[in-house]
Amino acid sequence: MGNVETFIFFCLCSWSLAGVFGDEVKSVSVMEGDSVTLNINDTDIQKDDQIMWKFGRFLIAQINRKINKISVYNDSADGRFRDRLKLDQTGSLTITNTSTTDSGLYNISIDKTEKLFHIFNLSVYAPVPVPVISRDSSQCSLYCSLLCSAVNVSDVTLSWYKGNSLLSSISVSDLRISLSLPLEVEYQDINSYSCVLNNPITNQTTHLNITQLCHTCSGNSGDTNIASHSADISCSICCGSD
Ligand SMILES: *[C@@H]1O[C@H](CO)[C@@H](O)[C@H](O)[C@H]1NC(C)=O
Ligand SMILES: *[C@@H]1O[C@H](CO)[C@@H](O)[C@H](O)[C@H]1NC(C)=O
Ligand SMILES: *[C@@H]1O[C@H](CO)[C@@H](O)[C@H](O)[C@H]1NC(C)=O
Ligand SMILES: *[C@@H]1O[C@H](CO)[C@@H](O)[C@H](O)[C@H]1NC(C)=O
Ligand SMILES: *[C@@H]1O[C@H](CO)[C@@H](O)[C@H](O)[C@H]1NC(C)=O
Ligand SMILES: *[C@@H]1O[C@H](CO)[C@@H](O)[C@H](O)[C@H]1NC(C)=O
Ligand SMILES: *[C@@H]1O[C@H](CO)[C@@H](O)[C@H](O)[C@H]1NC(C)=O
Repeated sequence: MGNVETFIFFCLCSWSLAGVFGDEVKSVSVMEGDSVTLNINDTDIQKDDQIMWKFGRFLIAQINRKINKISVYNDSADGRFRDRLKLDQTGSLTITNTSTTDSGLYNISIDKTEKLFHIFNLSVYAPVPVPVISRDSSQCSLYCSLLCSAVNVSDVTLSWYKGNSLLSSISVSDLRISLSLPLEVEYQDINSYSCVLNNPITNQTTHLNITQLCHTCSGNSGDTNIASHSADISCSICCGSD
C-alpha cells in the first residue's frame, strides 16, 4: 500500500518536472509514405510570438507572430524535406509523404531565448516484406530443417510461432541486412507453425505448410514452386546419402 502510494507520487512528480523543464519526449510512429502531424496543443504556447522547429541542428520551420509570418525551410537539413513541410497557425507541423530519413528528434522552442518547449521523437517505419520459408538444404536429419528469411530489412523482428506461442526470434536495429531463423519439425508434425516479420507498427505472416516443404523422398514431384523445388533437390541428396 505504502509502496504503491510512493510509486504513484514519484511518477506524478517526475512527469510534472519533465513538463516544467520542457524535456519531455513525445514518441510518434508512422508508416513510410504516410503524413504525420506533430501537434502543439498547449494554448499558452500557441499565443507565443515565436515558435521554432528544429530537426537535429537544422531550423526547419518557424512562426513569427509579431510580423505575422510563417516560414518553412525546405532547403535546410540537406533538402531532405523538399516540399513536404507545412506549419499551421497553431504551430503544429505536418510532414507529408514521410521517409525513413525523417526519423529523429524534432525540438520546438519558443521566443528568442530558444527555451526548449517540447521534443518529438518521430520514428518512420518501412513496410515489412512477407517472410519466406524454405527447406534448409544443408541439413539432413530425422527432422525437417527449415529457414524463415527476410532480405534487406531494418528495425524488424523475425519470429517462429507454434500456434500462438513464440518459439524463437531474432531482431535487427538500424542496419539493413538479411535475416534468417531456423526451425526443425518432425515430418509427421501436425501443429501449425508460422513465421512473422514485424516492426513496431506492422507485420507480415507466412504459414508453414509441412506437407509441401517437408515431404519425404517418395512422391511429390509435380511442384513448380521454387522453394519446394530446392526441397526436392535436398531430399534426393538426403536419400542418396542414406
Ligand atoms: C496533441 O493532441 C493530439 C490528439 O489528442 C495528440 O495526438 C498529440 O500527441 C498531442 N500533442 C502533444 C504535444 O501533447
Ligand atoms: C533537442 O533536444 C535534445 C534532448 O533534450 C537535445 O539532446 C538536443 O541537443 C536538442 N537539439 C537542439 C538542436 O536543440
Ligand atoms: C513520396 O516520396 C517518394 C520518394 O521519397 C516519391 O517517389 C513519391 O513520388 C512521393 N509520393 C508523393 C505522393 O509525393
Ligand atoms: C526515439 O525513438 C527510437 C525508436 O523507438 C529510440 O530508439 C530512441 O532511443 C528514441 N530517442 C529518444 C531520445 O527518446
Ligand atoms: C535495400 O533497401 C534499400 C531501401 O529500400 C534500397 O535502397 C537498397 O537498394 C536495397 N538493397 C538491396 C541489396 O536490395
Ligand atoms: C500483426 O498485426 C495485426 C494487425 O495489426 C495484429 O492484430 C497482430 O497481433 C500482429 N501480430 C503480431 C504477431 O505482431
Ligand atoms: C499444403 O501443400 C499441399 C501440397 O502442395 C497442398 O495440397 C495443401 O493444400 C497445402 N495446405 C495448405 C493449408 O495450404
